[in-house]
Amino acid sequence: MIALEVEGLTKMYGEVRALDFISFHVNEGEIFGLLGPNGSGKTTLMEIIAGVRAPTSGSVKVFGLDALREREKVSRLIGFNPQETMLYGDLSGWENLRFVASLYGMDDREFRRRVEELSEILGTKGFLDKRVSKLSGGQRRRISLMASVLHSPHLLILDEPTVGLDPEARRDFWEVIWGLRDEGSTILLSTHYMEEADELCDRVAIMDKGRIVTLGEPEELKRRYGGTAKVIVYPRLRLIGEAERALRVMSLKLTRMGDGLAVDTEEPEELVPVLITSLSSRGLEPERIEIRSPTLEDVFLNLTGRPLAEVME
Ligand SMILES: Nc1ncnc2c1ncn2[C@@H]1O[C@H](COP(=O)(O)OP(=O)(O)OP(=O)(O)O)[C@@H](O)[C@H]1O
Ligand SMILES: [Mg+2]
Repeated sequence: MIALEVEGLTKMYGEVRALDFISFHVNEGEIFGLLGPNGSGKTTLMEIIAGVRAPTSGSVKVFGLDALREREKVSRLIGFNPQETMLYGDLSGWENLRFVASLYGMDDREFRRRVEELSEILGTKGFLDKRVSKLSGGQRRRISLMASVLHSPHLLILDEPTVGLDPEARRDFWEVIWGLRDEGSTILLSTHYMEEADELCDRVAIMDKGRIVTLGEPEELKRRYGGTAKVIVYPRLRLIGEAERALRVMSLKLTRMGDGLAVDTEEPEELVPVLITSLSSRGLEPERIEIRSPTLEDVFLNLTGRPLAEVME
């Protein structure tokens, strides 16, 4: 079954075209990622799908229902976690959740059961009673995530849920997302982090300037648009010029990358010993050698001509 179907979605903010005729779909049970630099339109797209912003034109269907016409029915199927968490700082996590539950008309027993279950999965038991203003960013994120999944939404929409989390907390969060998917949710999330899109998502849409530049499974995108692997040689710094000349003589495809020399190759494992032998025979033993497979970062670079990192804050 198709969980979400977006067709020809366009959003103008005055003269700014934030979304430019976007079309894609998300299958039920999928973890689908929107990946793109600042201002590429991720939040606008998610807000329209969640029904908190109107598009200029185009259509959105959630489990077959027209999200723009049947707002109320659709809102019961969706859980939306906005980019800025919307919790009341003066209330405890528990009180915030009770307020959200009242909006969904949950009865008290059901509410308590669900909080018990979710606080187990999300590890929030220890601080549910604390005032939200006294919690760390990561703790707040987790409470806010509880709020958006309280009513067991079929489609969960998460706008940059892991921004500001340290790498360890980010990995814990992925476990949570996998858990929610196993519970039956379909997940649409946005991220800045290439690695997150790669490891967490079944499929990814790479966005830029209000458009989907490409869409597919991370492995497939890397294979098609990621370019070749690289072997990066780090010679001793004062010998880098000499090492570069030595490698050029071997007519390798070579670029400088910081303190390293990057060689494009289809067969990195075979090239490494050749490079070591050849450099060592000239007294240029490298200090370090690295094999780098293509990443989604390379995909973005190859398709847009700009590095993703440079255009981010
Ligand atoms: N309320 C608004 N009024 C006017 N322009 C807006 C508004 N919200 C967003 N924009 C513009 O629309 C474009 C898309 O912004 P959006 O916030 O959707 O991008 P994003 O991909 O979520 O960015 P970020 O990674 O920074 O969160 C940008 O050019 C932005 O300046
Ligand atoms: Mg955003």
